[in-house]
Amino acid sequence: MRQDHLISATQLSREDIEAVLDRAAEIDGDMDAWQGRHAGSVLGLCFFEPSTRTRMSFDTAMKRLGGRTIDMGSVESSSVKKGETLADTMRVVEGYADALVLRHPLEGSAKMATEFVDVPLVNAGDGAGQHPTQTLLDLYTMRENAGLNDVTIGIMGDLKYGRTVHSLAAALTNFDVRQHFISPESLSLPRSVRYDLHEEGAQVREHTSLTEVLPDLDVLYVTRIQRERFPDENEYLKVAGEYQIDTDDLERAKESLTVMHPLPRVDEIAPEVDETSHAKYFEQAHNGVPVRMALLDMLLENATSEDDQ
Ligand code: NCD
Repeated sequence: MRQDHLISATQLSREDIEAVLDRAAEIDGDMDAWQGRHAGSVLGLCFFEPSTRTRMSFDTAMKRLGGRTIDMGSVESSSVKKGETLADTMRVVEGYADALVLRHPLEGSAKMATEFVDVPLVNAGDGAGQHPTQTLLDLYTMRENAGLNDVTIGIMGDLKYGRTVHSLAAALTNFDVRQHFISPESLSLPRSVRYDLHEEGAQVREHTSLTEVLPDLDVLYVTRIQRERFPDENEYLKVAGEYQIDTDDLERAKESLTVMHPLPRVDEIAPEVDETSHAKYFEQAHNGVPVRMALLDMLLENATSEDDQ
């Protein structure tokens, strides 16, 4: 991968994706062998929004590569609280780190931040925009379980505000994957995402119910309704509780169906599903470490070779 920053999944070619997934698989096979790989390197974690998995798996990934991390901490405890701009925060943290990870509530913030930093910057979620590293671990999990060739996926839930959906849908256009989108009409795909999918010639269908399409699916990717992004709480309440699955629903699914979820879940997947062979969401979360190790390794490797030139 010859890119300085990872901002959107639309940047990634099939070759880029396969290179990251292959390296992640290599790392997964013998994680300890990578322990000294980036000794002395520092990763800056800048999270302006809550995060458990993404923050902790980036932290773990960097440490397992032998590097260290510095963490801005919560917005409440940082200078952001004093009114510091994103541009100033990023300029300052860049001076402390060899690469940066940014999560921010505003769509477009990661792209904007690249104007102010020279070290590699990774978008760990920009509002309802993109979340490309989640996509890489989603693809890794899909490849391990259902494959990425001649596959039918259903992506269900909050397709409007769900950034993991926007990134995943874009990346899947590189593969032979049929995409079905299932949501209430009010939470269907944003026009720009739908437009990009059509431009890429993706095989896409949209539905308001899972019933008709479930038996055809190889993968069901369930998402949380993004309550924090609704301008009006009443609008959230209208759709909350819809689009849930339990073991009764799954009786109509293929035995081999892989159920995924970027997590955190609220009530979209009944806990009883966890015990079935369909459930791959915890495995998916664990895959965040080797996949982020692979990505960091490649970005730091590129940055070093550019410095040498
Ligand atoms: C997702 C996110 O932050 O967009 N979480 C994650 O990174 N695994 C999904 C979500 O918050 O619903």
